[in-house]
Amino acid sequence: MRILFILGSLRSGSSSRRLVDAFQRSLPEDSRAQIIDGRDLPLFDADLEGAEKPPAVEELIHQVNQADALIFVTPEFNYGIPGPLKNLLDWASRPPFNSPLKSKPALVVTQSISPGGGSRAHAQLTAVLSATLTPTYLVPSFTIPAVHEKFDEDGQLTDGLTQMRINATLPGFLEWAGQEAARLST
Ligand SMILES: Cc1cc2nc3c(=O)[nH]c(=O)nc-3n(C[C@H](O)[C@H](O)[C@H](O)COP(=O)(O)O)c2cc1C
Repeated sequence: MRILFILGSLRSGSSSRRLVDAFQRSLPEDSRAQIIDGRDLPLFDADLEGAEKPPAVEELIHQVNQADALIFVTPEFNYGIPGPLKNLLDWASRPPFNSPLKSKPALVVTQSISPGGGSRAHAQLTAVLSATLTPTYLVPSFTIPAVHEKFDEDGQLTDGLTQMRINATLPGFLEWAGQEAARLST
């Protein structure tokens, strides 16, 4: 299975990135993973949407098309999803209702240093993905509070509960994503 991790944070040392590492370590051996964060994309501009799109947009579309499943890992910024992530989604959402995001199985994971674990960003991202016809895996919201307490100095996940949630969610998500892919190909 080809997994595309879509990161909502650009900063080095990002907790989102550390979580992606933890998810990646928990993937089955035959999985292939890519990580993108949309940093090279221009700001969405319909004037740039012609037959020849900016190279970073073409690359984004290629990566989404290649993926069997998407895993979003993002912080909450000002009660919502970070701007670069929304920009990435706007680019990937074209043409509307028939974009590379259509029918692509997705898991939404949010985190924050606050007790809410980015629950507002979680709800907002799930709503955005419904606009792009991207089905999201139905589990109790995967939100991670107090994320700064979950890692050691080397960025390794040390929190047993978070690892347990990853272990409890990932196999079911991958199975569902596989079923979705098989259903769409028939
Ligand atoms: C501009 C900005 C806005 C933020 N707004 C919120 C917020 O509304 N709610 C929240 O829970 N945390 C908020 N935070 C805290 C981040 O969600 C938190 O620091 C997160 O762990 C950062 O993720 P990262 O390490 O992957 O960059 C904000 C942080 C920044 C930089």
